[in-house]
Amino acid sequence: MKVALTYNLKEKDETKPADYFSEFDSAETVGAIAQAIEKKGHEVCRVNASNTDLFSYFRKNKVDFVFNIAEGKSGKFRESEIPAILDYLDIPYTGSNTFSLALALNKSLTKKILKAENIPTPAFQLFVKGTEELDPSLKFPLIVKPNCEGSAKGINASNVVETKEALFKKVKEIIRDYKQEALVEEFIRGKELTVGIIENGKAQVLPILEIDFDTCVKSGEFFYSWRMKEFQGNMELGLVPSFHCPARLDAATEKLVKDTALATHQAVGCSDISRTDIRLDRNNVPYVLEINPLPGLDPKESNFPVMAYAAGMKYEDLINMILISAKDRFLKNSKREEN
Ligand SMILES: Nc1ncnc2c1ncn2[C@@H]1O[C@H](COP(=O)(O)OP(=O)(O)OP(=O)(O)O)[C@@H](O)[C@H]1O
Ligand SMILES: [Mg+2]
Repeated sequence: MKVALTYNLKEKDETKPADYFSEFDSAETVGAIAQAIEKKGHEVCRVNASNTDLFSYFRKNKVDFVFNIAEGKSGKFRESEIPAILDYLDIPYTGSNTFSLALALNKSLTKKILKAENIPTPAFQLFVKGTEELDPSLKFPLIVKPNCEGSAKGINASNVVETKEALFKKVKEIIRDYKQEALVEEFIRGKELTVGIIENGKAQVLPILEIDFDTCVKSGEFFYSWRMKEFQGNMELGLVPSFHCPARLDAATEKLVKDTALATHQAVGCSDISRTDIRLDRNNVPYVLEINPLPGLDPKESNFPVMAYAAGMKYEDLINMILISAKDRFLKNSKREEN
């Protein structure tokens, strides 16, 4: 099979904000995915979506399948850009469709769907202008986040606020700097968990990953903030969280967390792969923060591969499972269309 690997590459550009390229992938990740696919005997064409006219490229270069990890160019629907082009050109691709990618990138809309499905998610309010009245039922501490970002862009220790004054300052800052709504949520103080789902015939939940920030107290960061993600492992900055996979949970809580992630994957309509971020409150209620249909796949740094390794998979097994799941889905769908 001829497989195109679509991605956006991290670049060095001092004129851009420090977190500008955070969602994008490194050359090492792109290389590792390409190698994993090539190992199975496929031909891989690497396509940097940031500097390629994709319509001309795919019209000129016929491929059988696309392995998509591109986060898209800009705007609230950016993750759907490449799948939309591929749909238009009738080229099958891995991962979620345009609708689920756009939905998952919009945290408040996703949370409304979770609420309708009785999946717990922190109480919240969306600020469009920054001058709205604060919902008096929301309990401090609250966290302020851009509504449509990933990689914890715009989220640091100062985003957790204890007063109305600090809240509105942060809300206005986010609306101004990220040119989008600010999402305000109740801050859930318990364990941080992330749950990987991979489809292998049917959706399979990987061992849960727990991230413990107790070892990072001196850094000033105390949750999975942008600084924590960007400088993870930096001893000097004190940003060395401890990872536990499987998470340290009793059997009942483990099942509840896994069922919650699975229900989230299904509610958002994800395909092939997703990673759901969850916080447990002190009663072990798993609150879903968000779902990532395009989780990072850095073989050394990203959370998703850590969970796959804990399930006994090698990196190449993980990548090829995503490809096989997508291929099977497209074959089933095209048979359905024929009948
Ligand atoms: N309501 C909350 N309560 C407690 N912690 C929270 C809450 N919302 C966010 N956080 C913390 O901030 C981190 C980043 O938030 P979130 O996952 O919503 O952002 P993101 O940018 O989409 O992340 P990702 O890097 O996974 O794409 C979470 O992993 C968690 O540590
Ligand atoms: Mg997250």
